[in-house]
Amino acid sequence: MNEVVLEMKDIYKSFGPVEVLRGVDLTLHRGEVLGLIGENGAGKSTLIKILCGIYRATSGEIILNGKKVDIPNAEAAQKLGISTIYQELSVIPDLNAVQNIFLNRELTGKKSLIAPLKYQEMKRIAEDILFRQLDVRLNAQMPLRYMPLAGKQMVEIARTVYANAQIIIMDEPTASLQAAERDKLFGVIRGLKEKGHSIIFISHHLDELLEICDTISILRDGQKVDEGPVPEFTIDRIISDMVGRELKNKYPKRTVPLGEVLMEAEDISDGTVFEGISFQLHRGEILGIVGLEGCGKNEVIRTVFGERKLKKGTVRLKEKTYGNTIKDAMDAGIAFLPAERKVEGLFLKQDLAWNTSIASLPKICRFGTIMKSMENRAADQYIAGLKVKCSSRSQNIAALSGGNQQKVMLSRWMMTDADVLLLEEPTRGIDVNAKTEVYETIGACVANRKGVIVVSSEEEEVIGICDKILVMKGGKISAVLSAKDTTTEEIKQYSV
Ligand SMILES: Nc1ncnc2c1ncn2[C@@H]1O[C@H](COP(=O)(O)OP(=O)(O)OP(=O)(O)O)[C@@H](O)[C@H]1O
Ligand SMILES: [Mg+2]
Repeated sequence: MNEVVLEMKDIYKSFGPVEVLRGVDLTLHRGEVLGLIGENGAGKSTLIKILCGIYRATSGEIILNGKKVDIPNAEAAQKLGISTIYQELSVIPDLNAVQNIFLNRELTGKKSLIAPLKYQEMKRIAEDILFRQLDVRLNAQMPLRYMPLAGKQMVEIARTVYANAQIIIMDEPTASLQAAERDKLFGVIRGLKEKGHSIIFISHHLDELLEICDTISILRDGQKVDEGPVPEFTIDRIISDMVGRELKNKYPKRTVPLGEVLMEAEDISDGTVFEGISFQLHRGEILGIVGLEGCGKNEVIRTVFGERKLKKGTVRLKEKTYGNTIKDAMDAGIAFLPAERKVEGLFLKQDLAWNTSIASLPKICRFGTIMKSMENRAADQYIAGLKVKCSSRSQNIAALSGGNQQKVMLSRWMMTDADVLLLEEPTRGIDVNAKTEVYETIGACVANRKGVIVVSSEEEEVIGICDKILVMKGGKISAVLSAKDTTTEEIKQYSV
């Protein structure tokens, strides 16, 4: 091993009475990729937020290149050569990729009274990082709000590559990437490693941690429970470290008899991204839609939900057509869980119970008034069912860990009486153990005679939980597969 660059010693952190980190130590060497692993709410993001100046530790020491340092704010961290990709993307949607990559470190001409921005030069550098080093295809001049989540994530990664920091922290950088983009990111990580940068990598994909990391460190309930070089670990050892016991069946699939056709799409097109899509969804069925980034899978369900314009074709729910707006879709009995929960659904100033019940107000209202007791009962039921880690149902949603926020969003749509649930990346950011709880909840929905459509970038998950799988390629359906007879290889064949 090379020399030690960073040591975090005996770190404690409390939020009010809740102790989130309890005596955590972490050592990082030059050129090392360290994987930080733990269940949702274990304390991973909190630990790295202390390192990048967002939080202050209650006690403990940080030693950087042999010197004790104080990191009071994000700017100080940047100056010390620590750069972070946060779990919740921090790109600015109204700015384009170039502006985001150079935010707060814009290149300017000679400083006189006015320092002109050197936009062309910034554009050249940004495009070099994006197109050559990361090998992504995107429009660097387009405001990020029009870009899919994976594109935003790549811009966030590019920003860190440009910062050229000694220590690079990546908090779930692959949560919304497909295999191909993840491989590109891993190529970049290997390059950074060779140049002597050190990386802390957080992910819930255990196989990729074993692939890219040199060492791993496992947190459980705010304490480090295991660490060591990757060759010493197996997935089973990691999981039992994380959860303190063996994992049960990862994909608990209930056998649910299919009922009548609930939803039918006939030859639908949005005029830009996809065309000629037809499918049927039965009661009791889980239908998966997969395909590479840009294949149109997300646009299909967003069109069915009325968020995008339907240019051609018809969608029927229980044999009736409905209007092409979100309101019409919701009134007809369709619910949609978007992938990017933070921007597209969480009410950050509200508590957990409120965030759970907001789409089901008629269920908890009597005589035009919200019955707090009913709201609380519903919230408690989902907190227990999905094992949401929180101090109580009245905890502010912003204080929950990323994965636990996802669980609350899922609860919200499970709670509605919708017949059809459209789930976009339902387990994004959710730990291995909690994924099983999400699958069980989805299973309970279809057992309840609902229909579910899952759009996911994880082929294995789709095979594990769905009945039928549509593979999309270039905006069209390239295959319809039966989940129990297919493999990830077969899906790949039809996607590229
Ligand atoms: N600002 C805050 N106020 C109160 N509690 C907080 C705050 N931030 C985090 N917590 C709590 O600290 C615990 C650890 O959260 P953290 O975000 O570090 O988890 P994590 O390991 O990153 O989980 P995930 O995998 O879901 O991202 C959680 O129980 C969370 O509710
Ligand atoms: Mg986190």
